[in-house]
Amino acid sequence: MTPSTAIKQQPQRSILDKPILIAIPILIGLFLTRSPFFMSAPALDLAAPNAQPWADTPIALVTTPQYETNKTDLFTTGATHMALLHNAILRGFNSVYQQAPHIKPADIPNFIGYSLTWHKFVVSHHDDEEVTLFPKVEQVLQDTAIWEGTHKEHEAFLGGLAEFAKYLRAAQAKPDSFDGAELARIMDGFRDSFADHFHSEIQTIAALADHPNAPTLGTPEADLAAETFKAWGKNTVTKAGTLDVVPFFLLNLDGTAEEGKWENWPPIPAPVKWGLVNIAGAWHARWWQFSSCAGGKPRKLYALQ
Ligand SMILES: *[C@@H]1O[C@H](CO)[C@@H](O)[C@H](O)[C@H]1NC(C)=O
Repeated sequence: MTPSTAIKQQPQRSILDKPILIAIPILIGLFLTRSPFFMSAPALDLAAPNAQPWADTPIALVTTPQYETNKTDLFTTGATHMALLHNAILRGFNSVYQQAPHIKPADIPNFIGYSLTWHKFVVSHHDDEEVTLFPKVEQVLQDTAIWEGTHKEHEAFLGGLAEFAKYLRAAQAKPDSFDGAELARIMDGFRDSFADHFHSEIQTIAALADHPNAPTLGTPEADLAAETFKAWGKNTVTKAGTLDVVPFFLLNLDGTAEEGKWENWPPIPAPVKWGLVNIAGAWHARWWQFSSCAGGKPRKLYALQ
């Protein structure tokens, strides 16, 4: 027996044996000092005349197919949930774009954290579609041509997206060098292709309802395909990052859109959702002050107040 293992075998009665005893006060401390729960930001009435620019521009948000048609087949439903996810990403783009030129020096590191989280969200979303979702849908429809246009749309914005991250990472190392107008200029470079794709993919998915191999409603094949969409949707955001992408996503969801039809989407139990925003979100709390929504409602953009 080496001395070091002998030491390890000594019974230790230390608080360190119970990580939870340490974790709880730390979490409570984080919560009390930094949670987004205590961050007040004026709520926003989007219909008010002369309302400041908000995160619904310059890229227009997507209308969900279900709101447009009331259809409930699996592709309309899948496309609708994808549209809700895309809208969180589009509000993310718009919130970065709108605020970038107005960031005060002291806020630069936090704004970079917020913006790089958006980037992480988009990259993870893109990869998870290409690697997981698209092949599964090809399998269901026995057709490998359905995503041809979508692959091209993806390629069209990847270069600009990479430039965006490169600029921010360089600025992270040297915050004085950050120039919000320059960041917005980089975003202008991929804004149109990005907007096209995030709208067009919704139409592509909804149109699969008319594919000759689309499973008939009520068959086991249809149930399986619906389950595929559902499982993908459930995992795609959480696996991207609990402490960053999840709070970013939840704080860019507008439950008032489309007459409040999606107020309870995604279907996470309220206490869990609250914990994800206010406890997981406390880790990088200062990043989230730039988000477009809080508590499922639009709020004024912090840097424009
Ligand atoms: C969809 O259903 C809702 C509620 O029944 C109704 O108010 C709305 O007009 C319908 N929309 C369309 C496009 O049929």
